[in-house]
Amino acid sequence: MLVDDRRVQLHTHQLHRHESLGARYSSGMKAAVYTRYGPPGVVRVEEVAKPTVTDHEVLVKVHVATVNRTDCGFRSAKPFIVRFFSGLVRPKVTVLGTEFAGVVEAVGSGVTAFEVGDRVFGYSEDRWGAHAQYLTIREDGPIATMPINVAFDLAAPSTEASHYALTSIRKAKIGSGQKVLVNGATGAIGSAAVQLLKTIGAEVTAVCDTPNIELVNGLGADRVIDRSIVDFTKDQQTYDVVFDAVGKSSFGRCKRLLKPGGIYASTDLGPGAQNPILSVVTPLFGGKKAMLPIPPKYDQELVNYFKGLIESGEFKPVIDRRYPLDQIVEAYTYVETGQKIGNVLIIVDPAT
Ligand SMILES: NC(=O)c1ccc[n+]([C@@H]2O[C@H](COP(=O)([O-])OP(=O)(O)OC[C@H]3O[C@@H](n4cnc5c(N)ncnc54)[C@H](OP(=O)(O)O)[C@@H]3O)[C@@H](O)[C@H]2O)c1
Repeated sequence: MLVDDRRVQLHTHQLHRHESLGARYSSGMKAAVYTRYGPPGVVRVEEVAKPTVTDHEVLVKVHVATVNRTDCGFRSAKPFIVRFFSGLVRPKVTVLGTEFAGVVEAVGSGVTAFEVGDRVFGYSEDRWGAHAQYLTIREDGPIATMPINVAFDLAAPSTEASHYALTSIRKAKIGSGQKVLVNGATGAIGSAAVQLLKTIGAEVTAVCDTPNIELVNGLGADRVIDRSIVDFTKDQQTYDVVFDAVGKSSFGRCKRLLKPGGIYASTDLGPGAQNPILSVVTPLFGGKKAMLPIPPKYDQELVNYFKGLIESGEFKPVIDRRYPLDQIVEAYTYVETGQKIGNVLIIVDPAT
């Protein structure tokens, strides 16, 4: 999660300088800007300068982005450890947004992989900036041409949650025939995990609330536990891996569900931030272990991997609500209810 915000900072600075001179902007763009940590209301949509490309970068006109839990963490600086990446006192990056889908509008003089007019999607966690009409990204960064016959709104939410899910699956070395329980199977990460696990032939038990059982069955789960009726930690079956994709359980509560040598993986720090410690300590004893899938990997190969799965029909990100960029505060507020089903989209270009 290394952050390079120099370009956005520079343009915001330039804008303010121009503003003080009373200048008008011919090359501005709309962006969701925040300059201090806090609740959704710290974000405001305003005009900033449009970024320009260097030799090996492409300029993308963003059509669709998402508000996800990574954006929420960096906006609120919660948990506190986020500040070691986002800026100790105030945010180093002023325009958030990781996932994007759009069209290449300009390329640097050294770019060979993309052309103006290419439809592209990707994951800009090192730069951020997708909550804006334009972003720049290196041509060898986490960007790829769009999956064939797919709209921007399906490509945009296909990288953030899914790369957390994939990192967990790969780190736990889950293979064909292994039994995996996914808690939070309707969240962004959980719904991606169920689908990605099925692509490798795992046997999936998914946990969700009553209204979402049909959805989770449709994602390919072999068995569904209704969490409003049954406490999944009391399940009689045992698993190679328990993947808590919403961080609502703990290693202690799930240990009895694990086969000998089984793995408990979580996307959250856990009660009292125990998961980072447990992920270091439990492997030392050689039995059941806890695992935190960090650092998650994201690069061009990963974006192309998801592109292939979307094209083959094996992966289809679940979409919940859509908000225009002007209503991004409402989008953040909804995402932070912790009750979204899959992904929340930001429609940056209303013509999309
Ligand atoms: N490691 C990181 O850097 C990182 C990055 C991003 C996210 N995260 C964490 O990963 C987690 C998942 O993120 P996400 O975006 O996938 O979440 P999400 O989409 O917000 O998850 C919402 C889903 O969770 C389910 N849920 C709510 N309360 C639950 C409970 N008590 N037990 C089981 N399921 C419950 C709900 O479905 P049902 O009502 O159908 O159960 C809802 O569909 C979050 O806790 C987030 O903080 C971590």
